[in-house]
Amino acid sequence: MNFKTLEDLDVEGKTVLLRADLNVPMKNNTVTDTVRIDRLKPTIKYLRKRKAKIIIISHYGRPPGKRVFDMSMGFIAPVLQKRWNVPVSFSPDTIGCHVKDSIAQLPPKSVVLLENARFYKGEKANDDKFAQELAQLADVYVNDAFSTSHRAHASMLGVTKYLPCAAGLLLQAELNALNKALDNPERPILAVAGGSKVSTKLDVLTNLIEKVDYLVLGGGMANTFLYAQGVPMGKSLCEKDMADTALKIMEKAKKVGCEVILPQDVVVTGDLKEGAFSSIVDVNDISSSSMAVDIGPKSVKFIKERISLAKTVVWNGPLGVFEIKPFDNGTNRVARFVGKQTKDGKCTSVAGGGDTVAALDNARTGKKFSYISTAGGAFLEWLEGKDLPAITPLLKDKNQKSRRCRKAA
Ligand code: 3PG
Repeated sequence: MNFKTLEDLDVEGKTVLLRADLNVPMKNNTVTDTVRIDRLKPTIKYLRKRKAKIIIISHYGRPPGKRVFDMSMGFIAPVLQKRWNVPVSFSPDTIGCHVKDSIAQLPPKSVVLLENARFYKGEKANDDKFAQELAQLADVYVNDAFSTSHRAHASMLGVTKYLPCAAGLLLQAELNALNKALDNPERPILAVAGGSKVSTKLDVLTNLIEKVDYLVLGGGMANTFLYAQGVPMGKSLCEKDMADTALKIMEKAKKVGCEVILPQDVVVTGDLKEGAFSSIVDVNDISSSSMAVDIGPKSVKFIKERISLAKTVVWNGPLGVFEIKPFDNGTNRVARFVGKQTKDGKCTSVAGGGDTVAALDNARTGKKFSYISTAGGAFLEWLEGKDLPAITPLLKDKNQKSRRCRKAA
């Protein structure tokens, strides 16, 4: 994928509208995870070094196109200042003459955070007038928000019609890592798809079987696949109405040469709580009163064998109920093995989406992966093989697709 980067954009002494994703987890007005903020630091440093004024725009939460007090970006400005170690001021409005005039007064290298873009209906609607108002604030536009790039919103897409644009350093790193993992990978490629529901990851699974050599299924999703094959699943989380779909996916996988790996043994319990009594059984021996909550040691061993064959690993979703100990054991052991293989230079590994980062953090192995995406929904859409609308304007060749490659025939 050939996209415009900061090197293609003249930012020297310019006013830069920087689209960040500051939709960070908060509790009682305190940011509980600063990863998205920390990863923006190189772009801030790069722009300040070139004496640019930096106008940051982001959304926070999903306000209904009007002001919601506890969704103000004002809470986040001091955190940016602390994490980046530069002064950051806050503009209580996002657009308008007064915002433009205030920006004009600022000296080079200033950093300003605008109020939540989603306080305006025009943001989600990708309204042209709102996009123009945003564009009037700056000379150039930088997208550094991969995690929002699946949204065709004014601050992501509309504004690129009116300003020269490029990817920031975070977006650049993210696109390069993801491209290497699935669009232009070293084979064999193995994907781990966990999580609770097949119905929410149907497009992900359908795309993955076309692209990967091995697909490991875990969590509630695996239960549905086992059930579809006639395995009694007792009280396990299982989407019985998705059984036919699961069988079709298995059939298709066989046709396209993708080995689907399901658990051979599972950890079962009658009570889904920490420290509850549990045992390990073959998948064919799940009793009517128990539920499968993790993969068992035989499954872990088999998955590790397959991982050791892979040159690329893509991970989305936990393999069990990792939030409740000890049902995080299967996820931990497999994740640590991927981390080790990566550290030993045996594979490239990329993970992201939803609960994945928390599951890898819990396994204390996330840092060993080649790349952990900051994205949730955008990572899933990327796994689904979709073109992300906010990436398209950044492509150097407009006829180029932002996604490539199917598995070689
Ligand atoms: C995210 O947190 O995944 C992004 O900020 C996108 O948020 P959204 O799903 O509200 O568009």
